This record gives sequence, C-alpha cells and structure tokens, in this order.
Amino acid sequence: MKALILSGGSGTRLRPLTYSQQKQLIPVANKPVLFYAIEDVIKAGAKDIGIIVGPNKEQVMDTVLSVGWDANIEFIHQGDPKGLAHAILVAENFLDDDFVMYLGDNILKGGIESHASRFRDIRPDALVMLTQVAEPQRFGVADLDAKGNIRRLIEKPKVPPSNFALVGIYFFKPVILEACHKIKPSWRNELEITDAIQWLIENGYKVEASIVGSWWKDTGKPEDIFEANRLILDDIQAVNRGVSEGSKIIGRVIVDSDSVVKNSIIKGPCFVGKGCTISDAYIGPYTSIGSGCDISGTEVEDSIIMDGSNIANAGRIVESLIGRNVRIRESECKPKGTRLIVGDNSDIML
Ligand code: DAU
Repeated sequence: MKALILSGGSGTRLRPLTYSQQKQLIPVANKPVLFYAIEDVIKAGAKDIGIIVGPNKEQVMDTVLSVGWDANIEFIHQGDPKGLAHAILVAENFLDDDFVMYLGDNILKGGIESHASRFRDIRPDALVMLTQVAEPQRFGVADLDAKGNIRRLIEKPKVPPSNFALVGIYFFKPVILEACHKIKPSWRNELEITDAIQWLIENGYKVEASIVGSWWKDTGKPEDIFEANRLILDDIQAVNRGVSEGSKIIGRVIVDSDSVVKNSIIKGPCFVGKGCTISDAYIGPYTSIGSGCDISGTEVEDSIIMDGSNIANAGRIVESLIGRNVRIRESECKPKGTRLIVGDNSDIML
C-alpha cells in the first residue's frame, strides 16, 4: 500500500501564522502536525509516500527532509488548491496501487494500523473513517442506514443527516482515480473527495466505513490546535535533559537538551524544547515551548510558543498561539500603553 499525504492548501483559518508558515508545519507538542501523519502511514506499512505540496512547498520539503524516514518520499506539486480529489488527480502517475490518503492537518490517536488491516482484509474499493462530532456542518458527513452502511456522503451540509463526520484519512483502490475524473467542481469550486466517494457508491462500488473510537483532530483552527496539543501532552512521559536551578518541576514535563530552568515553576504536562532559557517564570499545564525560546518574568499556560521566541515580563499569557521569533516584552518607554506591531489578520485579546 502506498500513501498520499496532503500538505498543500492555503490555511486561511490560521492566518496570520500561515502567511509565513504552511499550516501542516505548525507544531503540536513540539512536532509539526504533518509528522504525525508520516509516522502513522509508515507504521501501517507504507514504503512509498507521496506528499502533495502547494504554497510554501520548499518549506515543507526542507522540513520533511530534515528527518530520516524509513520510507521513500516523493513530493508532488499541486499548484492551486483545487480540492482533495484534484490532489489525487495531480498524483495520478504515483497512484498505481492501493493507497491511504491522509490529510496532513489531521491527527488521530492510536494511528491507522487497525484500519489498514481492515482495508486489507475486506478489500473494499474505498474505506472511510467516521467519528461522532459536535459540529458536523464543519466536515464531510455520512448518512447511514440502520445497519450502519453509508447511503450518502455530503460535504459540509447546512442540515447534517447525522453527527458522523468523515475523518481525513481514506483507504482507496486505484478505481478512485476514475471517480475523481468523473466528478465536477462543487459550489466552492473544488473537486471534493466526498463527491468522488459518492460516485463510487452510485456506480455500485463497495464503500465501507470504520468507526474511530479514539480521539481525532482536524487542526484547521487555533482552538483545534490547542485541543490537539492538550491531547498529545496528556500522553507524554517526564524527561529532563536540561539543567534546573532553584526551580520546581511538577508532574510530566519534558525539558529538552541544552535548556536551563532557573527560579521557575513548571507544572506539567508541558514540553520545553531544546536550548531554551526559562527564568523567574511559571509555565503551567498544556504548554509547548519550541526550541531556542527565552521566557522570563512571565506566566504561560495552555499555549504554544514556537521556536526562537522571546517573552519577558509580559504578565500572564493563556490559550495563546505564538509564532516563531516573536518578541513580547514589558514596555519601558513613556507614554505608558500597549505597543503593537502585528501582522494582518492577527487576533489579540487584552
Ligand atoms: O478533516 C476532515 C475533513 O477534511 C473532512 O471531514 C472533509 O470531508 C474534507 O473535505 C476535509 O475538509 P476540510 O475543509 O477540513 O479540508 P481542507 O480544505 O482544510 O483540506 C484538508 C487538508 O488537505 C489540508 O491539510 C490542506 C490540504 N489540501 C486541501 C486542498 C483543498 C491540499 O493539499 N490541497 C487542496 O487542494
């Protein structure tokens, strides 16, 4: 089985971070979201992985190739994001075998091995994964019959027929290519994978569903990223590779190599990346701090702070998503007041 991982798209719901960073590279528990997908498909036995890239393709390629993977990785350029079925068509030459398609902004606890085995055992033309969600109108939704068979799939319906959402992980036989060729763009001018699977159903192909019991997150919006960060941090084990002086480290905390924690309190679950300095600070539960950050005289809780950021005497920061190389500090000049140099589409609560 091959794997196709989607790392294109423009990530509009995560601006301003996505002006300079491809959304699948945003870190969750200090690891790009995309790496969770790559690890899952490798664990499920994929040896050949195609990664769809679009805007910021060099960034995605450099980040993926900065790590040694136990698989052959090929990058496939999509250009404009014209839909998930369009991404399959762009990868047509690569997709000469059964494959798993994994949306690069999805994270699934427990991986996909059991679903991959089910696909190999029952050999349907498509196996989709469903899970119950609170807001089905945000997703592709399945209309199921009394036996749990899929009657219909609808993309982001205004009136959802059920609360079973399509998880962004799909197993296909190559016949899906024919379906992607047959469908027309949707109202949002995209070739929808939901319509391609619906084409399979209407043309007598076998489409099966697997219900996902463990947690799953589509990290499309900041609140989803916080939730994914909490869920991953909930499973970490304490490791201290750094130096701690006059500090209290409570609960499951990872302090990575070359980091120094001075006169501070860190209460887990938390992840402090490599080469950080934390001084006179409180780092509270569900915080991930990237490499090379400097945090002093500040309280941070339930937040993601990316590589190279510097925060000094900034009061109390909660539920915040802070990009790379950001500087936040107490204002020492007069007149007193908040001074902001903030990118387009930023979201600030004072
Ligand atoms: O996450 C699950 C949902 O993913 C499903 O329930 C929906 O049925 C499915 O259509 C999809 O909906 P989204 O609106 O979340 O899709 P999004 O546009 O965010 O794209 C999903 C991923 O694929 C994202 O990592 C970007 C990438 N992508 C997207 C498009 C449209 C591409 O690489 N190329 C594209 O053309």
